[in-house]
Amino acid sequence: MEAMDICIATIKEISYLVINHPIYSSIGVVVCVFSLLKFYCRLTLGVCDCDAELSGKTVLITGASDGIGKAAAMDLARRKARVLLACRNKGKAERVAQEIRSATGNDNVVVKILDLCSFESVRRCARDVLDTEQKLHVLINNAGITGIGRNRREYTEDGCEKVMQSNHLGHFLLTALLLDLLKKSAPSRIINVSSDAYTFEKLDLNDMRNENVHSDIALYANSKLANILFTKELAHRLSGTGLTVNALHPGCVETNIMDGSEGVFATMTKILFATIAKKLEMDIMVTVEEGAQTTIHVSVDPRLERTTGKYFSDCKEVKLKGSANDRTLAKRLFEISEKIVGESYPQS
Ligand SMILES: NC(=O)c1ccc[n+]([C@@H]2O[C@H](COP(=O)([O-])OP(=O)(O)OC[C@H]3O[C@@H](n4cnc5c(N)ncnc54)[C@H](OP(=O)(O)O)[C@@H]3O)[C@@H](O)[C@H]2O)c1
Repeated sequence: MEAMDICIATIKEISYLVINHPIYSSIGVVVCVFSLLKFYCRLTLGVCDCDAELSGKTVLITGASDGIGKAAAMDLARRKARVLLACRNKGKAERVAQEIRSATGNDNVVVKILDLCSFESVRRCARDVLDTEQKLHVLINNAGITGIGRNRREYTEDGCEKVMQSNHLGHFLLTALLLDLLKKSAPSRIINVSSDAYTFEKLDLNDMRNENVHSDIALYANSKLANILFTKELAHRLSGTGLTVNALHPGCVETNIMDGSEGVFATMTKILFATIAKKLEMDIMVTVEEGAQTTIHVSVDPRLERTTGKYFSDCKEVKLKGSANDRTLAKRLFEISEKIVGESYPQS
């Protein structure tokens, strides 16, 4: 009885401290919010429940040297696909390829050099793929940067804004150049890795260089909205070909994507997500293996063979908001992107 009394008294004392002391109550609120977020993330986490094997199938994934792309490549190699890792850093990509071969026992893992920030590099990569591959069943446009916290616009050798070219224009060109091979390999799939951050967009088709975009989040969001609009218009054009195209949000994933970011927003994000979450062991961010689940699901699940023009999150189709549903915007972005990259897609 005495122990119970001490216990109750201690709980009362702690409750009193938390409620009446501003610092303790603030900590209490932070702990509660993180706990709820963690609970929500765990509760809604989508897992690919499909064990389809991919023997005889070829998959190309961009940005497979790190993060979500690397985790997805590992899984697809385990499913016995021939996996092409399209990456900009040869040494890093070769090390990852070797790691995947050793971990999966699949020797059919090959590096292709691709720098999305150079249209010439994209064209070289596509030529290389067309020279070596008879079939291409899945193209995963995954590579990406945020540009958040850079506090300055950066431009590529092609004169495009760097985030827009890395995330949208480079993939737009790569897909155009591989389209015939993908069609020839039907049933086949294109997967565009976007982000729910698209809702922060301020896309202006008269300002594809993002010169009048003053927020870094909007800069990233514009490129991620472009991924979705591209998906929508391409799905329309590919109707009836057996080649599908879908977009997805991978979740809030613990990767290096914010590395190199500077500035208040980036620092705050890092502190919030990395330091506090980790120290309190409240991992609201998911691991790369968990973050790759939706990409894997949309790439391999046979139930999605005919699904096209959709957006997925946590391995489920979800509804899009605002400009992401604008058909006219999608068509205009498609035409402008064709002009910028200097490559036309066949009309539907
Ligand atoms: N992490 C998240 O929470 C999150 C949330 C929503 C959406 N996403 C999206 O998920 C995708 C993957 O992101 P991640 O978090 O896995 O990032 P990450 O760990 O930083 O990996 C990004 C990959 O893209 C490659 N890459 C970057 N610029 C490139 C270029 N110009 N040419 C070729 N490859 C390039 C990187 O190559 P190097 O290895 O050479 O650097 C790396 O392999 C991105 O499209 C991102 O927008 C991520």
